[in-house]
Order: sequence, then structure tokens, then C-alpha cells
Amino acid sequence: MCGIIGCTGVKCAAKTLYRGLEDLEYRGYDSAGIAVLDCGGIITVKRKGRVAALLPAIEELGGTTGIGHTRWATHGRPSDANAHPHTAGAFSVVHNGIIENYAELKKELADEGCTFFSQTDSEVVVHLLNKYYRGDLKEAVLSTVRRLRGAFALCILCKDYSGFVAVKYCNPIIVGTGGGALFAASDMPALCGLAENVAVMQDGQIAFAAEGKITFCDFSGEAASLTFSTLPVSARPARLCGFPHYMIKEINEIPAAIKATASAFTSENCAEKLARIQKKRGGFTDVVVCGCGTAFHSALAAAYCGEELLKIPVRAETAGEFRYRKSSAGAGTLFIAVSQSGETADTVEAARAAKRLGACVIAVTNVAYSAITGVADVVIPVRAGVEICVAATKSYCGQIVALALTFASLCQSSSALKSMLKELKTLGAACSAAITDCRVEDVARACASSSGVYFIGRGMDYPVALEGSLKLKEVSYVPGEGYPAGELKHGTIALIDGGTLTVAIITDKTLGEKTASAVEQICSRGGRAAVVCFKGCAPLSLKERAEFFIEVPACSACLSPAVSVIPLQLIAYRTAVILGRDPDKPRNLAKSVTVE
Ligand code: M6R
Repeated sequence: MCGIIGCTGVKCAAKTLYRGLEDLEYRGYDSAGIAVLDCGGIITVKRKGRVAALLPAIEELGGTTGIGHTRWATHGRPSDANAHPHTAGAFSVVHNGIIENYAELKKELADEGCTFFSQTDSEVVVHLLNKYYRGDLKEAVLSTVRRLRGAFALCILCKDYSGFVAVKYCNPIIVGTGGGALFAASDMPALCGLAENVAVMQDGQIAFAAEGKITFCDFSGEAASLTFSTLPVSARPARLCGFPHYMIKEINEIPAAIKATASAFTSENCAEKLARIQKKRGGFTDVVVCGCGTAFHSALAAAYCGEELLKIPVRAETAGEFRYRKSSAGAGTLFIAVSQSGETADTVEAARAAKRLGACVIAVTNVAYSAITGVADVVIPVRAGVEICVAATKSYCGQIVALALTFASLCQSSSALKSMLKELKTLGAACSAAITDCRVEDVARACASSSGVYFIGRGMDYPVALEGSLKLKEVSYVPGEGYPAGELKHGTIALIDGGTLTVAIITDKTLGEKTASAVEQICSRGGRAAVVCFKGCAPLSLKERAEFFIEVPACSACLSPAVSVIPLQLIAYRTAVILGRDPDKPRNLAKSVTVE
């Protein structure tokens, strides 16, 4: 989703904002823009495309106060005109979110004589500010935010105010102070190296930052306060460190992500927290595990493992469906929300919906200060570190570990948790072996020239098949599907021909024999096949039948997706590179989807 930033009291606002925007670019890269207060006026520079497109134009910009934006287009195609900041009259605004009632506001403002230069929903904000401005900035901001419906994080410049204003409603914004300057940004890494102390703004708050001081109020105008703390070391922005792309760097960080997630589970007493809430609730009747995209795939894998361990119904659901469904979840339900960013609108709202139904809510997230943590009764940390590549890799493996440990704790068998923690001591080494030993180049070439790539698996391998397919599609744009191996013959096999490739995932010997039959059926129809399997799991015949055969070290079923996914992530990465795509910033995507 879009990234926004504001600063005041710095040496050169444009350079500071540009640096911050580079760190925010993973949130959207359709266009970028900067507005600075200079010589009593507002100067705006905005361009379609990446943040770097701004560089030549900002060289000459002066000023110590400004706002910046990097856009993931929702309303209006990527263009210079639709790029933020939107400037009119005394104001300039950058916005992250969606103004749901923008059409009626736009009509009202246009009828009153406002001229609109963009197709965005955001531009109504700047016109509303001008409409309500009679020399009192606070009044104008309050009157404006009270007219808005939807989700909005805003940074605002006013030519009569020496600083900037930040507004938070349903989209994240962090304020910071350091070296006499004041800042606001969509996430903490963008403030690293700028701010020393930070505070996470709460929904319905407005910050006025000027002359070395930030004051807060709520949407009713009442003064509000926020506690600042030192910017955490973990929020340091990631750098490539010699890797060509973040995607391959982050795949290489999987062993560290697994280790850190397992040790945080212990050091943060998660098992005890879970036992307490389980006792308080008198046990659970059922479990719903919820997320979007990759997080949904780790939820689905965890549901297989959770039902086996807990022996009560455990189901996975996409958050976008759960939030609008008439669910039977209730006071006996444990609802587990899984989200790397902790800001995905559908997941946060699904968790709120579950809470309204009386369910106990657990959040499994990689971002400690994210919105989902404010909704949850218990937070289970994923410690994958900052993930920059839009395609989730190390966070998926961290989620698999955090969820498996959660279910092992809830099943109240101390041996289940103990043996999982013991296994986790060596899982990192298994992942490292998979990362270094897997030879995926030939499969990636086959993917790159295929008309469609189908991923199949049974049991725990089915969610991994879905994840392998999502990864390949999102970074290489090669079409395909993930399928339960047994379902293929019920329709999708009609698509198999010599131009297609099927990747079968096998981590269980018994189920492997069944998946092998599906591979036979594919090969008999001229389809090409690759097998990704745990050592010793695939039937011998398959080694001869499949064109490509990749083995990775075996581990227990609940943790298996963290290892078996690695070759699939590597295949997706190499396919993208072979096809000349940018795996870190795939077209049409953004890392964190904070709108519906
Ligand atoms: O931050 P979240 O885990 O809530 O994000 C959910 C999805 O948007 C995300 O996993 C998306 O599917 C990734 N691009 C997949 O690689």
C-alpha cells in the first residue's frame, strides 16, 4: 500500500524525504512525490514510476519541512497527475488508504467550484482542507477528518504553518523525534537514521509537528498524549548486503528466521500465555486460522497440523471471506490471525469480527507494533526480521514455526512442545542445506518456457503447492495453479499438454505413492513433471518418470512446509530472473495491503 512520510526541522527536507521514500518503496511503486515548504510557498515534485524518478527534480529543492509519498494505485491509473502530493490553495496532502465517500465529496466540492486534477480519491482531502480553512489549521483539519469515511493516514502541509500535520485512521503512521527534527512515516524502518524516539499513533489521532515539538489531539479536538520510546534496533531497514535481490537474500535468511522465531516463543513465554488464556476460556471448541495470500497458506498448513494435535475442528479461511461471512464462530472459538505486516486490512477486520463474536484472538505477526497486535488477546511473534521483497519467503517459514509451536502448546502435551523445540534446533541446518544444495536452474528454465505450471500435493504438501504456485505467479507472471493432487483428474488435467509443467511436492511416504499416480497420469498425457520431495519419500519409479527431481532433508510433518517450500521459492526466484522480471517489486503488487 502507499508509503507516506513527513519531516520538519531537518537540513534539507527533499533529501531526507527521498531517503525515507526509498525505504518505503516496497509499499507501492506506481509513482512518487515530494512537497516542501520553501520561501513561504509549497513546491511539489511528482513523477510516475519509481522513487528514483524524482532524483533529478529534487536536486534544487530547499526547505526544512516537507511531505513525501510512494503510491500503490487504487483510484486512478499510475500517472504524474494521480501521483501524490495533491496540492491546492494553502495545502498539500499525501494519503495512504481509501476515502470511501470520495465520490459524494468530490461532487459537493466540484459544485462549489473546486477544480480536480486527478482521478484519485485522495484529492478531496486537500480541497476539504481549503474549504474549511479560515486561518485556524486545527479547525480545518478537524472539520476535514470528520467528513472522511474509509481508511486514511495523512501528512499535511499548510503554507501558513512551519511544520506538518499527521493524521491516523485505520492505516499506520509512526511519529518520531531526533536531532531537533520531527518526523512521521508509515513504518519504523523509514525513520531509522532520522528519529531517535518514536511513538505509534492510534486510530483517531492527529499530530501537529512544528518548531521541535509534537502535540496530539483526537478527532473531537481533545488533547491526547502518546508515549515515545527509543526506536528499536530490529526496525533497522534491510540492505542488499551483496545479494542481487531482496528475494534471494531473504530466502537465505530463512534459517535465522526459524531460529529467532523459536527462541522468541520461549523467551516471551508464549506457551505459558497460551496455557493461561486456554484455562481462562475453559478450553476451546474449535479453531479458525485466518490470513491472506501467503499468510493464508501458512494458516492452511497449520490447520492440518493443529487438528491432528488438538483433536478438535481446526479450519483455515481467507480473511477477506471470514470478515463478511455469517460465521458460526463464538465464545468457544480460538481465532488465529496470521499476518507478516500485521496491517493487512482484511486480516485485521476479520480478527475484529471474530472478537465481536466472542472468540479469543491470537495474532501471529512479524511486526511487533502493528495494528493486529492491538486487537489480539495474545501475540505470538514471528521474528523473520524486516522483509522487503513483496513476495513473502522467510516470514512464511517463521509463520509455520510460530503456528506449529502454538498448536504444540495448546495440545497440552509437554512432550509435543519439547520435541518440537528440540527439532527446531536442527531445522535451520536442514533449511540451509536445501538453500545451498537444491539445483533449480533447469526447472526454472522449464517454468520460464511453460504455458502453465501446476503445483500438486496431498496433506501438508497441498498448502505448500498453493504457496509454490502463488510465488511463481507473483514474481514471474507465469500462469498456473496449486492443486490437491487427487483433484487434478477432476477437471484441471484437461489443461495438461506438452507445454505445461507440473511440480509435485512429496514429504510423506504413504501420500507420496498417491501423488506419484497423479504424476503418472500427467506424464501419460505428454505433460512435463518435476518432483520436489523429502529424502527417501518419493517412490523409486518417480525418479525415472519425472524430468526433474529435487530432494531436500526430511523433518516432521508440522514443520515440513518450512523446508519443502524452499525449492519452490528458489524456482520462482530464478524463473523471474530468467524472464527479466524484478522479483522484489512485481507489477501491480504492494507489500502490505491496507485497503479492501
Ligand atoms: O502482511 P500479510 O502477511 O498480512 O500479507 C498478506 C498477503 O498480502 C501477502 O502474503 C501476499 O500474498 C504476498 N505478496 C505473497 O508473497
